[in-house]
Amino acid sequence: MDIVFEKVEHVYNARSPLARRALYNVNVSIPSGAYVAIVGHTGSGKSTLLQHLNGLLQPTSGTIKIGDEIITGDKRPKQLKPLRKKVGIVFQFPEHQLFEETVEKDICFGPLNFGVSEEEAKRKARELIKLVGLSEDVLAKSPFDLSGGQMRRVAIAGVLALEPEVLVLDEPTAGLDPRGRKEIMEMFYRLHCEKRLTTVLVTHSMEDAARYADQIIVMHEGTVWGQGAPEEVFRDADRLAAIGLSVPETVKLKRELEARFGVAIPSPCLTIEQTVEAIQQLFSRVSIHD
Ligand SMILES: Nc1ncnc2c1ncn2[C@@H]1O[C@H](COP(=O)(O)OP(=O)(O)O)[C@@H](O)[C@H]1O
Ligand SMILES: [Mg+2]
Repeated sequence: MDIVFEKVEHVYNARSPLARRALYNVNVSIPSGAYVAIVGHTGSGKSTLLQHLNGLLQPTSGTIKIGDEIITGDKRPKQLKPLRKKVGIVFQFPEHQLFEETVEKDICFGPLNFGVSEEEAKRKARELIKLVGLSEDVLAKSPFDLSGGQMRRVAIAGVLALEPEVLVLDEPTAGLDPRGRKEIMEMFYRLHCEKRLTTVLVTHSMEDAARYADQIIVMHEGTVWGQGAPEEVFRDADRLAAIGLSVPETVKLKRELEARFGVAIPSPCLTIEQTVEAIQQLFSRVSIHD
């Protein structure tokens, strides 16, 4: 499903003394099947933007098109229910939303709500628990007897149970250890490819944005500061630094090498693997002159 934001503005507590404009003039276009990373400081409007994707928030002005659905400020929330199924949001610390007495019931909750039979929902739960890297015997346990990382996986399975076409991830690895982060990010990437999802990831990790995303959207103080392929966005390291954002460590290394050796490295050096290759090529060029 193609997603298009046109001149979207969102004001919290509009028409009250507490009114706060969190988004303005947001124009964004996310093609179906893309993997898009949204980066930006805390408070730049990332979570507010995400919540417009399934109608949890409606724009104060402007329009959002998601496939055939059009979201404007005057739609009634009931009209937006179909979107809740098509667009799955994994919120920050999704484990805080677990509430059922067993893991199985928690994963089945969404599908049952959308009219899926109990048998089918349970079958789905068995499939998903393995997909998120847990064993089937976890299904009978209370979610509150699991570790933080396991709870996170259960909550993710609950979102996937609705078989969304668009998967929205708000800092999904916050608070996990490095191994857990890598496993979860790899899982999302596998899902993105296998299920042909449109994926929207909010992250503070420029490394993750560089590795997984086709497009990066940079948010700054409530509006879109820039959008492009990772290599385009990270080419602007100095402008990013001016708004207090950095580039991946590998891109910094590339810039240092270029300055030190007075050469241009053609590779964008978005991942460790690309960077190793670029350095190898640099060595083979340098050694010719020895
Ligand atoms: N429920 C809310 N009520 C009022 N203001 C809010 C609410 N949620 C967020 N804001 C404000 O909106 C702005 C954008 O916040 P948010 O979208 O959470 O940014 P980010 O996810 O990039 O950290 C911030 O100034 C924040 O204080
Ligand atoms: Mg946020």
